[in-house]
Amino acid sequence: MKNIVVLISGRGSNLGVLLDAAIPARFAAVISNRPGALGLQLATARGIPAITLDHKAFADREGFDAALMAEIDKHAPDLIVLAGFMRVLTPAFVNRYQGRLINIHPSLLPVFPGLHTHERALAAGVKIHGCSVHFVTAELDHGPIIIQAAVPVHESDTPATLAERVLVEEHKAYPLAVRWFVEGRLKLTEDGRVFLVGAPQTAQALLSPGDVK
Ligand code: GRF
Repeated sequence: MKNIVVLISGRGSNLGVLLDAAIPARFAAVISNRPGALGLQLATARGIPAITLDHKAFADREGFDAALMAEIDKHAPDLIVLAGFMRVLTPAFVNRYQGRLINIHPSLLPVFPGLHTHERALAAGVKIHGCSVHFVTAELDHGPIIIQAAVPVHESDTPATLAERVLVEEHKAYPLAVRWFVEGRLKLTEDGRVFLVGAPQTAQALLSPGDVK
C-alpha cells in the first residue's frame, strides 16, 4: 500500500475530504508549518501522526526545507500532498520529490498563480473560475495539470462567495486526483502534460452566463 504525507498550514478542509475518501493508501503523517493548525486535529482524531515543524524556528528557507525533507522521509512517502500549505518551496525540495508532489490551487491555472485568486478573478471579470490540481515544479503554481474544476462567476459574487463555490469543487477534485495517482492511472508526457488512463472523452461545455435566450 502506498504511503501519503500531507502538508498543511491551516484549517485542513481538503485534508478532511482526503481522509474521508476511502483512498486505497496509507496516510502516514500530516505535517504543519504552523503550530495549532486546525487540520492537525483531523489527523489526530484518526490516529495519524500530526507533526508541527514551525518555519519560524529556522533562520532561512533552506534550513526549514531541509528539516521538512528529513521529517517527510521518515514516513517513506510515495506521494506528498500539499493541502493549503502556504510556503514557497526551495528547488532542492521540489527536485527531491519531482513526480510525487502535488498541490491544489484555487484558480484555473495558468491564470492567477499566487495569492488572492478570487479577488483577482473578480477584478479581471472572468465568467468562469475554478481550481486546479497539479504536479509541483520549481515555478510557483505551475506544473503539469492533473484535473481542473470550473465554476461560474456571478455578478453578485464577493471573494468569499466565490471562494466557497470553488472550495466545493476542490473537495471533489483533490480526492479524485490522489486516487488516480495511487492507482497508477496518471500518465505524464515528456512535454509536461498529464493524461488519465481510461478517461472518458466528454464534449460537455460550461457556459457562463448560462441559460441565455
Ligand atoms: C484551498 O483553497 C487551497 O486551494 C489553497 O488553500 C486553501 C486551503 O484550504 N491552496 P483548506 O486548508 O484545505 O481548508
